[in-house]
Amino acid sequence: MRHTTCLDEKQTLRKTSVKSRQSWAELYAFEVDRAANAPVFRQIYLRLRSAILSGALRPATKLPSTRELAAQLGVSRSAVVSAFEQLLAEGYAFGRKGAGTYIAPDLPEPFEAAHGRKKLPASVVKTAASFRGLGGFVDVTEQGDERPFNLGRTLVDARTAELWRKLSARTLRSLGRHHLGYGDPHGMLELRKSVCDYLQAARGVRCEPEHVVITAGTQQAVDIVTRVMQGPDKEVWIEDPGYPLTRLALVAAGAKVCPVPVDQHGVNVTEGIRRAPKARAVFITPSHQFPKGVALSMARRLELLAWARESGAWIVEDDYASEFRYGGRPLASLQGLDEAERVIYIGTLNKALFPGLRLGYAVLPPSLVRAFVTARYLMDRQPSTLCQAVVAAFMEEGHFAAHIRRMREMYRNQRDALVTALRRRVGDHLTVEPPDQGMHLVAYTRRGLSDVTIERAGREHGVVVRAMSRLYVEAPPQSALMLGFSGYPRQIIAPAIARLARAFER
Ligand SMILES: Cc1ncc(COP(=O)(O)O)c(C=O)c1O
Repeated sequence: MRHTTCLDEKQTLRKTSVKSRQSWAELYAFEVDRAANAPVFRQIYLRLRSAILSGALRPATKLPSTRELAAQLGVSRSAVVSAFEQLLAEGYAFGRKGAGTYIAPDLPEPFEAAHGRKKLPASVVKTAASFRGLGGFVDVTEQGDERPFNLGRTLVDARTAELWRKLSARTLRSLGRHHLGYGDPHGMLELRKSVCDYLQAARGVRCEPEHVVITAGTQQAVDIVTRVMQGPDKEVWIEDPGYPLTRLALVAAGAKVCPVPVDQHGVNVTEGIRRAPKARAVFITPSHQFPKGVALSMARRLELLAWARESGAWIVEDDYASEFRYGGRPLASLQGLDEAERVIYIGTLNKALFPGLRLGYAVLPPSLVRAFVTARYLMDRQPSTLCQAVVAAFMEEGHFAAHIRRMREMYRNQRDALVTALRRRVGDHLTVEPPDQGMHLVAYTRRGLSDVTIERAGREHGVVVRAMSRLYVEAPPQSALMLGFSGYPRQIIAPAIARLARAFER
């Protein structure tokens, strides 16, 4: 193509220093209207100009060649050349000899500003009533903060990383029809079998592969359970304090949440029955209550199961982080005690492996499998086949069990390092006991010190400590800090606690 406006060398250098974008312009669809009064070249020029101004074609995008575009539109090449020349002359595009034509990387300000999309203030946008005023949401989305001692982070050691690369490469090499097409909405059978074997052995869960559904993790499982619950006002129990993402998911879905207080024996079942005897479901963390870390006593487990059997309520058992048990007698799952098929057991691989994985599982009472799988299918059809295949191989070949053993040891050391550092540096302000399970500990403040104040001061010193009092809904809040220890190597723990100590001095 002959460019009438060829940029001088200096200009070209300046313009091309902006990384050119993927050539999405090839896919930009428009037609010319032969019956229209405007000449064809002008129609092409106007369409491209308006796409540039609206941002549909972004700065530095490569335009298709004049030959390709002419063929695509069924017009003469000279019409396209004329349109491009006009764009070049007006500075919307620039050309490099032999390298094609690009949308200018630095469009004049007035154009971008004048034509850029207007942002509507959030207050004007209409969303479901249940989504408005979800207090605390911003806090809980801060899980991306990598500073110590944020919650929910995991470590992956060199051995697991290497295995993961190897198994991913092997899966990709064997890429076949069963990876590329639609799959089983329950999840891959091989993976469901491995999950079943693991849960029977490690957690005393009663299950068959046909009752297991592979999910994207706890969050999706909670969402699906909420969708399949019947009843116009879906009243549910939640723990108080409890896991905020479960509460918020329920509130957002329009459920009527009934907070039930938690004490040293776990959630107070008698109180729950008193407050909401007709609740449709109970969302609990019985083996390691989040956030307090207590286990639901056997007496309360039996009381809860008996009530659920009588009332027909579902018990949603979130068995998060049960892989990481450091001492004491391991408590089998609540589901394993259930004779009446009232328990929906949900677990996550996002903690056992890493949160970016987005895989977990639900073990369902047989009567619920169909509804659950249908809801899941309508939501996102199925989990990603390739990810499932890698995890299935990881489990089948024994790497999962070995990974858990190694990480358990590592997290135990990190937990101990954290407890020692806390007692040494801030023992006057906090009372801390090492938890038997999980990925975080709870340090109770002394002498009326406010956990929220320390949380704020901690951030200013580069330390993320979450105030537990924020997780209470109705029960009188206890002031304590939650510190995640699973995501932080031993050597960074003491220096970070030294910084936290400075926050206390303030
Ligand atoms: C109580 C509880 N359940 C479950 C999870 C895991 O959720 P997901 O599988 O959606 O990552 C977490 C993560 O922080 C948690 O604290």
